Amino acid sequence: MITIGIIGYGYWGPNLVRNFFAAKDCCVKSVADSRLERLQQLGKIFPGISGVCDADDIIYDPDIDAVVIATPVSTHFQLAKESLLHGKHVLIEKPMASSVQEGEELIELAEQKNLLLMVDHTFLYTGAVEKMKQLVADKELGNIKYLDSTRINLGLFQPDINVLWDLAPHDISILNYIIKETPYSVNATGITHTNNEIENIAYLTINYNSGFIAHFNCSWTSPVKVRMMLIGGDQKMILYNDLEPTEKIKIYDTGYNHKSDEEKKRILVDYRTGDIHVPKLNTTEALLGMANDFVASIQEKRQPKSCYQIGLDVVRILEASNKSIKNNGCEVLLNTPNRVLKQKNYQVLRH
Ligand SMILES: NC(=O)c1ccc[n+]([C@@H]2O[C@H](COP(=O)([O-])OP(=O)(O)OC[C@H]3O[C@@H](n4cnc5c(N)ncnc54)[C@H](O)[C@@H]3O)[C@@H](O)[C@H]2O)c1
Repeated sequence: MITIGIIGYGYWGPNLVRNFFAAKDCCVKSVADSRLERLQQLGKIFPGISGVCDADDIIYDPDIDAVVIATPVSTHFQLAKESLLHGKHVLIEKPMASSVQEGEELIELAEQKNLLLMVDHTFLYTGAVEKMKQLVADKELGNIKYLDSTRINLGLFQPDINVLWDLAPHDISILNYIIKETPYSVNATGITHTNNEIENIAYLTINYNSGFIAHFNCSWTSPVKVRMMLIGGDQKMILYNDLEPTEKIKIYDTGYNHKSDEEKKRILVDYRTGDIHVPKLNTTEALLGMANDFVASIQEKRQPKSCYQIGLDVVRILEASNKSIKNNGCEVLLNTPNRVLKQKNYQVLRH
């Protein structure tokens, strides 16, 4: 049995407590939140879990094997570092840290101490994302040309991060999980409609050498909620609508071919539209899959599906997007080292 302590019982923490409560081979001993009213809420729902005000009561508890961090992003690094230094395995909510430097320091520390460090990119555990990954890997769509995602709603303005850091980790982790090519640069623009300089609308483009392109539209100021992603190949295209209760994925047998009209010096495009296929998806709750993967990875000394490398790559793209936004959308190169997961016992899980 792995004994777990969870820090942060705000909006997302209760979902983690509920799923770790149900997960295999673990028990939740304590939950920390500095707000008393949140602990009172915890006590009503989970009377058997002890509520503590101070995160140190979890980090210093010798009975606790693993710490789950569900606090605002600006606190992730310090809480994760302290937990690793005290010999705890760590699961951090997305995004992993506030900078690449912080993320790398945590990875070094986890490697030195031979502890598991994982980032919760929940969408990697959904049936929809698993299906899209399989379709792309099996070349069902032909050659992949683009990924285009819209994640907008009337969202909570965050005090410490902009809308890309809040919403885009979901899309970037899905992109990195499905597309194996390493991106080389980003362009991003954004705007703030408050006086705190934190963008509430932003557009991010990720560029690849092969000509594949990914684009993300994120906003906290839309009157409607949209969670839609398109993945286009030269033979078929996917529409992923996460708000659809059952038919989340539709595969369009739609494609195009082009040839050059040398005489008229123009491109002639042939379009093809065919059937739409709706595949059956696994509907197990993603967060439960994530919690089980965290516990099993500790027990089996292996890397989880949502490994720290994906977590770090997401932060690298977000950090570059900040630079681009501050420079009016100029192209920022991604300085991606070809880092190999080198933790001795925690072997790489090949996706
Ligand atoms: N995986 C997902 O789909 C998903 C969804 C939403 C949020 N999140 C992530 O979860 C994290 C938390 O987001 P949230 O919306 O729940 O934030 P929140 O502000 O609603 O909750 C954070 C809680 O942490 C507590 N807290 C902060 N610092 C603390 C400390 N040092 N000790 C004890 N308690 C402390 C606060 O009192 C608060 O109750 C963020 O990283 C966010 O990106 C993930």
